[in-house]
Amino acid sequence: MITMRAATSADSRAVHALDTLAFAGDPTRVPPEHALSGLDLERTFLAEHPDLPDGPAGLYSSYDLRVRVPGTPAEGTRLVPVNGLTWVGVHPDVRRRGVLGTMIRHHLREARERGEAIVGLHASEPGIYGRFGYGVASHNVTYTLGRGTEITAPQTVVALADRTTTGLVTDLDDDTVAARLRDVLLDSPALGTVVLPERCWRSVLRDVPEARRGVEPRRALVATRDGRDVGAAILTRKARWEDGRPEGTVAVDLVTAVDAGALLALGRRLVDMDLTAEARFVGRGVDDPLLGWAGGIRLRRVRISDALWLRPVDVGRMLVARGYGAPLDVRLVVADPVLEENRGTWHLHVDASGKATCDRSHEAPDVSLDVAALGETFLGLVGPTALAAQGRIVEHAPGAVATLTSAFATGAAPLGGLSF
Ligand SMILES: CC(C)(COP(=O)(O)OP(=O)(O)OC[C@H]1O[C@@H](n2cnc3c(N)ncnc32)[C@H](O)[C@@H]1OP(=O)(O)O)[C@@H](O)C(=O)NCCC(=O)NCCS
Repeated sequence: MITMRAATSADSRAVHALDTLAFAGDPTRVPPEHALSGLDLERTFLAEHPDLPDGPAGLYSSYDLRVRVPGTPAEGTRLVPVNGLTWVGVHPDVRRRGVLGTMIRHHLREARERGEAIVGLHASEPGIYGRFGYGVASHNVTYTLGRGTEITAPQTVVALADRTTTGLVTDLDDDTVAARLRDVLLDSPALGTVVLPERCWRSVLRDVPEARRGVEPRRALVATRDGRDVGAAILTRKARWEDGRPEGTVAVDLVTAVDAGALLALGRRLVDMDLTAEARFVGRGVDDPLLGWAGGIRLRRVRISDALWLRPVDVGRMLVARGYGAPLDVRLVVADPVLEENRGTWHLHVDASGKATCDRSHEAPDVSLDVAALGETFLGLVGPTALAAQGRIVEHAPGAVATLTSAFATGAAPLGGLSF
């Protein structure tokens, strides 16, 4: 029988060893004390399997994230807590014997007991998590802008960018700098923005020379206007020379901005760095203004993959955690492969201001769906109409899917955001 237990500080070495074994990582690349520094041991659990008596068979941890979700029309977007599953690994000798399944059931139960409403994750492989009720809530759009790319934005945006200054911050391995950058991220209204907990964020910005792999330490470009931080990018440059020509690259791990002017000011600097040939952006969305100003998806070597997967641990509380674009009065019958508390009929009511209530109902449902469909529609990435076309939402009352689609629509695709 597979059993679960909470990790303690005595498990640190075993946690690091199992993680590097599961992910085929180089255990010397990042010293264990650095690798583990972002981990919250109180949220870390180990699985034990009788076939593996000398050490843990599986491992998972979670982060107390904040994710920007749709708000009411008056709010735009809002930040809500999301429990982010991370560090999932199973010892190769006991793979495909149910260790992950046991860990996910434990995780969902544990999240419920903590009073959390929503869980999320980034999947190492897309085929794993749908069976547990997770749905893809955002796409990670990556693209490359060559040096000197013409970025053509409307005059109002240019005027705002012209009032914005940008400056490099060279040492990110510092508590004050980490807090400053996290504050900019918290201020960004962009749907899909993922904010890591302080301890994890600090560890992401820690400079570990062994992990640099021939690139400079991470830098930040901070945009300011009227004495206030209005945006930031986190980047690393890599020098490269070809036939005597500088062909360096800028890897932009994060761009966050409170408005279009700040984004434009950052974008202009990032495509104009000396000795570089191109800047590669990750974690963006298909509606990224910078991508649009730079000519759109056909020109910019765009790649799209799944980013944040979401799932309710409490359907009622998840559905009221976001705001809606139109009034709604609908009964949803929900199927959940793991949590029986989520199963059954829910009455979702949205008032004229876009605020929702969601309670149990005994009346006939208007639509049926699986919890994964709630994850997929939550940030507005996919509309209920599209899921109904796939047979994933079944309509019982004519017009219910169209009404749901209007209320769930956000008008802009979420960002992929930070991976965790
Ligand atoms: C992916 C991993 C965690 C799976 O663990 P596991 O203990 O072998 O999984 P389980 O035996 O509990 O499998 C549960 C279900 O998921 C399926 N599954 C497991 N790994 C899968 C994969 N890579 N792709 C598709 N399905 C997978 C199983 O077939 C099983 O399906 P079923 O319930 O329909 O029969 C493990 O192989 C691992 O540690 N891989 C390397 C690290 C990694 O990728 N971690 C995930 C980070 S997000």
